[in-house]
Amino acid sequence: MKNLTESEKTLSNESSNGILEIRKYPDPVLKKISEPVTVFDDELEDFVKVLFSSMRVHDGVGLAAPQVGVLKKIAVVEYDGKSYVLINPKVVDQKGLQEGEEGCLSFPGIYAHVTRPQWVKIESNDVHGDTVTFEGEGYTARAFLHEMDHLNGKLFIDYLSSLKRNAIKKKAAKHTGGHF
Ligand code: NI
Repeated sequence: MKNLTESEKTLSNESSNGILEIRKYPDPVLKKISEPVTVFDDELEDFVKVLFSSMRVHDGVGLAAPQVGVLKKIAVVEYDGKSYVLINPKVVDQKGLQEGEEGCLSFPGIYAHVTRPQWVKIESNDVHGDTVTFEGEGYTARAFLHEMDHLNGKLFIDYLSSLKRNAIKKKAAKHTGGHF
């Protein structure tokens, strides 16, 4: 998920420094359902590190593996000084509702209001495969849920009316030069 407080940055899509290219809508990989992680090895740990650094370079507060073309249930979130690794995550409890503006690194310059739970409890694996739980409230909860949606091929524009969604699709097409 995009950090709303930071200005847009443009980067060459290069990985010479270990930074991964962010796939932009309408890249079809963004609509695919990711596979659960079953192997917890050094490669996974390294990938999580690269996901964090790629997220930071792009001023994100969250980044999911499919956004870098990897269809595995892995995402990272960093907000308010705290970092979270989400591997095979699921919501085990939730409370309340919040409405707020949301952006996504795969939709540069595009924001929309999305209603989400105000508080969530997440059960996840850590990089070693152990089960961990953590809670998030407000914008942190929003970031968890936005990234977890990515792991199921769901995008924030899927919450909008078809009218609003089509307007965003047109804007995204202009941005990327893509066709629909
Ligand atoms: Ni996103």
